[in-house]
Amino acid sequence: MFNKIVEQNPASPRALYGKAQSLDVLAEQKRSNKFLEGAIDAYEQVLNISDITDALFKQVAERCINRLRFRGSYKRAIPIHKSVIMKFPDDINYQNELAVTYLTMNNFYEAKKVLYEILLKWPDDGFAMVNYGFILKRYDLDLKQAVKYLKKGISTRDPGVIDGRFYYHLGDALIRLGRSEEAMAVHIDGVKNKLFLSKYQRSLHNVDRLTGKPWWAKEDMPNAKFFDKLEQQWMTIRDEGISLLNTDGLFKSETEDLREVGDWKQFEIYARGVKNEKNCRRCPKTCQLIESFPDAIGCRRGQIKFSVVQPGTHVWPHCGPTNCRLRSHLGLKVPSGVFIRVANEIRSWEEGKFLIFDDSFEHEIWHNGTSTRLILIIDLWHPELTKQEKRTLSNV
Ligand code: LMR
Ligand code: MN
Repeated sequence: MFNKIVEQNPASPRALYGKAQSLDVLAEQKRSNKFLEGAIDAYEQVLNISDITDALFKQVAERCINRLRFRGSYKRAIPIHKSVIMKFPDDINYQNELAVTYLTMNNFYEAKKVLYEILLKWPDDGFAMVNYGFILKRYDLDLKQAVKYLKKGISTRDPGVIDGRFYYHLGDALIRLGRSEEAMAVHIDGVKNKLFLSKYQRSLHNVDRLTGKPWWAKEDMPNAKFFDKLEQQWMTIRDEGISLLNTDGLFKSETEDLREVGDWKQFEIYARGVKNEKNCRRCPKTCQLIESFPDAIGCRRGQIKFSVVQPGTHVWPHCGPTNCRLRSHLGLKVPSGVFIRVANEIRSWEEGKFLIFDDSFEHEIWHNGTSTRLILIIDLWHPELTKQEKRTLSNV
């Protein structure tokens, strides 16, 4: 019916809006991208009509941006953000939302520009402050300024500022600045606000009921046999790892800004449950050994990789993204003077032996020795997850 009305009245905002809404509902009912595209097109047409009321313009623009984000079409949402900002320049939310879209696109540069302008006009806006601080931390690596904005933003308690990402990076910046007592206070406040599972376990993508403890033993695991088998074959794995190391350029530097100093590189075999075929062919025996372990190769929230750390390296304390995996390390080349702290206990690796820990807990690595340390990292699903969860949890 709306199609018919639109045919006769192509410039009627109400008719076009009705068409858009109908397509929107159909898209949800049928889980259809085709209808969703149709809805978005129609919403955009409504916005292009000149004599539309402010109330309708807002409603349509907000829904259209919402649907474009859902569709992952961030770039296409930008002009809509801009037109609604132009029409309502005094509504801070529209400007903050533009920054959020830029952030989702990983366009830190544009996001920062938008937030900077917001803060000129509204210097006390908590949401703009935390996002600005987040960019200073993640993109500019300006820890001091990041702390200032994150702290002040969080203290406003404005909607959207009590968020694990802001708490995590505020705590992290404070740790790196040597302000560990302040960091601890942030972490404890994060626990109070249910953003973290505990002061040490600060992963943000969690299944709450899972047992959380820093260190695990082979015997705690339902698949202890798998670990035994790999320990028996550890020299085969080591030899493949070492020959990979001897070929230039195969290992890739860690890129997450986790090192204070030093050299830490990895060679990925599986990522998020997907096999890296090319890399697997370069270490076929290791790959074959791993393949008998469904909880590892199917772990969509983890990786399997060789990891090499050179003397003089310090990896800052950090937490993994999720409590749904455990991380196991098989020691392959372990000189003296290498350490890993998980929560409040420091251990070291042993050649041919597994260390198993939960990397959602804070952990930190030092290499104070004089020769290369090489391990194989195998992430596996937390043993308390159900089959259903292992099948359906998103990969983070
Ligand atoms: C980590 O997972 O953060 C580290 O344990 C990796 C490594 O190579 O020690
Ligand atoms: Mn780690």
